[in-house]
Amino acid sequence: MSSNTANVLYLIPIVTFILALRFLSNPAHARRGNQIGAAGMLVAIVVTWIRAGGGSWWVLVIGMLIGGGFGAVAARKVKMTAMPQMVALFNGVGGGAAALIALAELHRLLPPPGRPHIDVLIAIALSGLIGAISFAGSMVAFAKLQELIGGRPITYPGQNIGNIVALVVLVAFAVALSAGVQDQWLLWLVVGGGALFGVLFVLPIGGADMPVVISLLNAFTGLAVAIGGFELENNVLIVAGMLVGASGTLLTLLMGRAMNRSLGNLLFGAFGKVTVEAAAVAAGDGGTVRSASAEDVAVMLAYAHKVVFVPGYGLAVAQAQHDVRQLADLLEAKGVEVSYAIHPVAGRMPGHMNVLLAEANVPYPQLKEMDDANPEFSRTDVAVVVGANDVVNPDARSNQGSPIYGMPILNVDDAQAVVVLKRSMNPGFAGIENPLFYNPKTVMLFGDAKASIDQLIADVKPL
Ligand code: TAP
Repeated sequence: MSSNTANVLYLIPIVTFILALRFLSNPAHARRGNQIGAAGMLVAIVVTWIRAGGGSWWVLVIGMLIGGGFGAVAARKVKMTAMPQMVALFNGVGGGAAALIALAELHRLLPPPGRPHIDVLIAIALSGLIGAISFAGSMVAFAKLQELIGGRPITYPGQNIGNIVALVVLVAFAVALSAGVQDQWLLWLVVGGGALFGVLFVLPIGGADMPVVISLLNAFTGLAVAIGGFELENNVLIVAGMLVGASGTLLTLLMGRAMNRSLGNLLFGAFGKVTVEAAAVAAGDGGTVRSASAEDVAVMLAYAHKVVFVPGYGLAVAQAQHDVRQLADLLEAKGVEVSYAIHPVAGRMPGHMNVLLAEANVPYPQLKEMDDANPEFSRTDVAVVVGANDVVNPDARSNQGSPIYGMPILNVDDAQAVVVLKRSMNPGFAGIENPLFYNPKTVMLFGDAKASIDQLIADVKPL
């Protein structure tokens, strides 16, 4: 197949990738988006195979069966709470693939008389370096989230300076490679050093910040893949890589903004450490906490006009999404207006709550984004906070000393009454006290969220 024919055929996957992103932006069409993207990828693989001269089809089929089989089994088996580490793993292999392509391409072009052009050498050096950083960084992120290593930030004196020096040395090696020092060992040094830098870069970042790091590394992988496209003169790789790079960058910035934390603070702030100290300072302020029984809460809910559920990380831990949906159905059958208020960083990964509630087939129109949900709380009778903490912490609005000051929150305290479902008075991700729990409007329903919701269902039914 000629390059021109291949480039025309590549328009199919390019269009499907863009459409897939468009569809993925809404939970109602997200599955369709995935299917469209996967179909486009199949076309890209087959066209690339034929363009490269084909060869034995069984190699292609076996490769796709191994990769596709692993992906399908992982997607089915992995629990929702383990999804961030799976994304880290998948992202890591993308970066690793880009680094391997760089090594293979240089090996193919050397030794003389094949003297690679400088632009090809720059592409090889950059995709090797960035791909290796992304691979190793993603593996550390995976190990932290899977608790194979501790999730706490690992810090030591001179860490940031040491990392900057290491990066400068690596870039110098990459420049030397691009300038024509064409030894294969130099690229091995760039790739090996990049992998070491990836490890050092992610170690100081706390386990709970990993979703943001993974999203940033995702942007790196996209960039490495796009540069790999220049190496191989493959347009679909360039477009797909840039789409991944751009969406990873935007997602990182959006998450940072939703937490009111700069990228610098996320990457170099060692947040887990800061918050342990903050928790110690905050502890002891206290006030009076009112705890209620499920029976009391059931009465509040059954006789309310409008109830808003506010899910958080605890919903994912308890896997209570189906139970919440059942309770909501029950309340609606009694004439109560029900909706769900979704904070952009509730849970531990982007769209965490949307995914959980979609799994329980919650009708999409009932899901309200923060900006739409907040004005509604003032006409809400009961806001039911299900395992959320930081995203409803009023300190973010009013306490300038709080580590989460400035983070936009769901204003549940505007509702007539607030019910908080959690197991204890323990803090959430930020490790800080939450004044909402001491608000006279608030009652706590202590216990695992799933067990509490099930008890509420039993108590609401006869009312
Ligand atoms: P958190 O502030 O982490 O609070 C979760 C609460 O759930 C905890 O206070 C915990 O209290 C409770 N909980 C845990 N297991 C439970 C169970 N089985 N039943 C009932 N309650 C349970 O969660 P959030 O409000 O969703 O906020 C998310 C936080 O993560 C924010 O600080 C955000 O910045 C951060 N973060 C989010 C992301 C993304 S992309 N979503 C990425 C990085 C960081 P008990 O232990 O007392 O039960």
